[in-house]
Amino acid sequence: MNPVTVAAVQTEPFFGRVASNVEAALALVPGNCALAVLPELFATGYQFRTRDEVASFAEELGPDCRPGPILGRLLAHAASSGTTLVAGLAERAGARLFNSAVLVRPDGTRGLYRKVHLFMDEKQLFDPGDLAFPVFPAAGTQVGMMICFDWLFPEAARSLALAGAAVIAHPCNLVLPWCQEAMITRCLENGVHAVTANRVGREDRAGFELAFSGGSQIVAPRGERLVRLDRTGTGAAVARIEPGTPGTPLTAHNDVLGDRRPELYRG
Ligand code: ACM
Repeated sequence: MNPVTVAAVQTEPFFGRVASNVEAALALVPGNCALAVLPELFATGYQFRTRDEVASFAEELGPDCRPGPILGRLLAHAASSGTTLVAGLAERAGARLFNSAVLVRPDGTRGLYRKVHLFMDEKQLFDPGDLAFPVFPAAGTQVGMMICFDWLFPEAARSLALAGAAVIAHPCNLVLPWCQEAMITRCLENGVHAVTANRVGREDRAGFELAFSGGSQIVAPRGERLVRLDRTGTGAAVARIEPGTPGTPLTAHNDVLGDRRPELYRG
């Protein structure tokens, strides 16, 4: 596979200030990359109080929808820069609301993922994702998406690897301390690259404060952390990677996907 330059963009959104959050995030996307990943709920901020509030910010993202302002801006940026963007945003689909990630290619075509494993109050605010773990050809490779708390469930990254993802684009709003370390194992056990784009800053809109942990990073299939940002500032973590096929052999006799024994596993 040809090398590709990928970026994890680390932002500090301010709740509800959509236009300025979007512009600040896009201004951080490096000019020369094939794939840039923005955080979960990057345009709105995280701590919604009610489903009605989510609905007031959510956009339609489905394949046939007319793009709203946020998706429209992502499409325009992808077209003018030649960069495929993956970004997390609130999605409206009829009466349902999803915590979603959209993949936007420079030619305007798109892919969609709806967060499967909802975290804390998200369970009252969003419907659980119903699209499983699709993989999309993009940026010269095969890209799958998972969102933030999906990291805790090895099945998410495994499903993406089994579906052929070489790169996992991972928009996050992380508040627990373990994900950045856990993604090293997710990459090693699946033979994939992961681009984890987290946010920084704090929100206190729902009676408790959340502090977001930054540390956006890019990890390679052998678990090497290629680059990592600090825990407080905004910026972009950039790496040139050579995505192969998932599950690259670990030794001459061991293939991390091929050696599995699903007939002996439960669940
Ligand atoms: C999270 O899933 N936003 C922690």
